[in-house]
Amino acid sequence: MKKTIMITGATDGIGLASAIKFASQGHHLLIHGRNPEKLKTVAAQLSALSTNGKVESYLADLSKLSEAIALAKQVKEGSSFEHIDVLINNAGVLKVSQAMTTDNLDVRFSVNTIAPYILTKALTSKLSGFGRVLNLSSAAQAPVDIDALLGKKQLNDMAAYSQSKLAITQWTLGIAKTNNALTYLAINPGSLLASKMVKEGFGIAGNDLNIGADILVRLSIEDGVHKYSGQYFDNDKGGFSSPHPDGMNIQKSKEIIKTIESILSAKT
Ligand SMILES: NC(=O)c1ccc[n+]([C@@H]2O[C@H](COP(=O)([O-])OP(=O)(O)OC[C@H]3O[C@@H](n4cnc5c(N)ncnc54)[C@H](OP(=O)(O)O)[C@@H]3O)[C@@H](O)[C@H]2O)c1
Repeated sequence: MKKTIMITGATDGIGLASAIKFASQGHHLLIHGRNPEKLKTVAAQLSALSTNGKVESYLADLSKLSEAIALAKQVKEGSSFEHIDVLINNAGVLKVSQAMTTDNLDVRFSVNTIAPYILTKALTSKLSGFGRVLNLSSAAQAPVDIDALLGKKQLNDMAAYSQSKLAITQWTLGIAKTNNALTYLAINPGSLLASKMVKEGFGIAGNDLNIGADILVRLSIEDGVHKYSGQYFDNDKGGFSSPHPDGMNIQKSKEIIKTIESILSAKT
């Protein structure tokens, strides 16, 4: 069945590889990018590939809370699609030259944790019944230092990345507990896949990107995933698995959500 799928960070890496597969299968797409030229090129590429699916494109720098909020509003009010079946929060960042954003937050928490939260919450009513939210986690997960999430403490690249990825895994669990009408999954797409992030972060070519794209396509399309809502899919293990213990701790999950909400009410 044809689905309507929104994917952030669709201009490179796993996001682009997934968008190509979705377009080839004729699904409708809402693609997001931060670079207007890349976004235009990818939109044209996907439209040419697609048999009879439509492609809408959206521009936003997700390191800025205001742009994440504006993106959600544009999709909610401006999209020609009445409903979205799948929201894939894929955009992510690891290594940067400038860690702090104009909101005084670490860019890893902004892009990898908070922007996906903003989009997920704002687009809840746009998601169809049993619609899915697929949040990109990672095998790299470390306990979240709340001061670092608040931007009061600076971390090195890997610590910030690992904490941002456990934080998104944690709020995925927490939000799933509050809404049984949708399906929320945190997904490690596979470790060290051959993207720009891996080349820049680890200086290696990496494994086939299709490993990550194929699992995102499968979890978007396959029936029967609702029963796993709130869980973590570890593609290194090939199935649903346990994240870091904090990722299954509902109290800690609530603390992450409360902290993100406090950031949003203070900064927006
Ligand atoms: N590759 C792996 O082995 C691996 C493993 C575990 C998890 N992941 C996760 O998978 C997701 C995709 O990563 P990838 O490996 O495919 O990396 P990538 O090739 O670097 O792609 C990242 C995407 O996010 C976008 N992005 C980065 N910063 C942004 C910002 N400030 N605002 C808006 N968009 C932004 C990038 O835009 P541009 O195209 O403009 O650069 C790009 O489209 C990430 O969440 C990552 O953490 C990857």
